[in-house]
Amino acid sequence: MTFTQPRAGVKCDGKGGTAGPPRRVLLWGNVSIAGSSSWRKRFVFRAERQAAGGGALPSQACDRGPGVFVGVDMARIPLEDNFDDVINKAQRGLRLSDGELARRAGISPAALRALKDGAFDEAAARAVAPVLRLGADQLAALGRKAWYPEAVMPPRGFALFNTPFADMTVNSYLVWDPRTRRAAAFDTGATCEPMLGAIETEKLTVRYLFLTHTHEDHVADAARLVAATGAEIYSSEREPFPGGKTFRENQTFHLDSLAIKTLLTWGHSPGQTTFLITGLAWPLAICGDSMFASSMGGGLVSYEDQYRNDVEKIFTLPRDTVIAPGHGPLTTLGQEKKHNPFFTG
Ligand SMILES: [Fe+2]
Repeated sequence: MTFTQPRAGVKCDGKGGTAGPPRRVLLWGNVSIAGSSSWRKRFVFRAERQAAGGGALPSQACDRGPGVFVGVDMARIPLEDNFDDVINKAQRGLRLSDGELARRAGISPAALRALKDGAFDEAAARAVAPVLRLGADQLAALGRKAWYPEAVMPPRGFALFNTPFADMTVNSYLVWDPRTRRAAAFDTGATCEPMLGAIETEKLTVRYLFLTHTHEDHVADAARLVAATGAEIYSSEREPFPGGKTFRENQTFHLDSLAIKTLLTWGHSPGQTTFLITGLAWPLAICGDSMFASSMGGGLVSYEDQYRNDVEKIFTLPRDTVIAPGHGPLTTLGQEKKHNPFFTG
């Protein structure tokens, strides 16, 4: 049984059963679930056995309706941003007009328009990159779809959930001490249903619900998660959440063998926070929309501050830090230092 290469999938029929030939089960996109190795194996075994027998898939994998693939491949969550998203984000952040950008890049307004609309032209992309302070090689690789982060195999005490919200998907996470099984949740995504499944399966006690920021896609199911677990909600003092408590910058919470430190990486929102977690097999930065694999969050409040905070507070962490973003796949700081166009310009 392999967990990394999707070749085929089983579609849910939305009624707890499967449609199509049920030969292999893969976790894909909307319902990605990762947990401890033993839990993951149990989950996959159960899903494969049920699919092979024509039976219903596990509820947490099959309740998203028709068209959902299930299995265990969290590495195939699509990148959050395409090359044109990166160009548009950087241009907005630097407040450059189309005319100014085209003139300084030495390309025609028509060529810039096509690029911004998603028609990849490598020469044009390389021309605008330095004007937008983007890495040209990295932007070109994104345009050619030549890069995707190497898969990160989760350690014990870590789970990712990827749920659909409007036309995108959003990530939420669980982290726990494997010995005491006390856990912290980070955001809820669109629904906490798969998270509740993992909490039950792993027999976890959820002490905290930490919010990276309070945008709707990240907190949509907070009330339900709190009602089901009794967790206390915490968000930044710069971005209070109704019914929750607040933390300051550089505050550390302890959860048995784990330490959770709050890094204020604002810019996308006023109190956007990256949680640096130590005590797992690798350092973990749950960063919300501060940055993504090969991109960063839009600077809705301040692009310059989002960029500066990322550089000063995330890019100074150890290279093997796993970056767990609010959208898109897991990555590592070492990979982002080489491949993220925003931080290689
Ligand atoms: Fe956001």
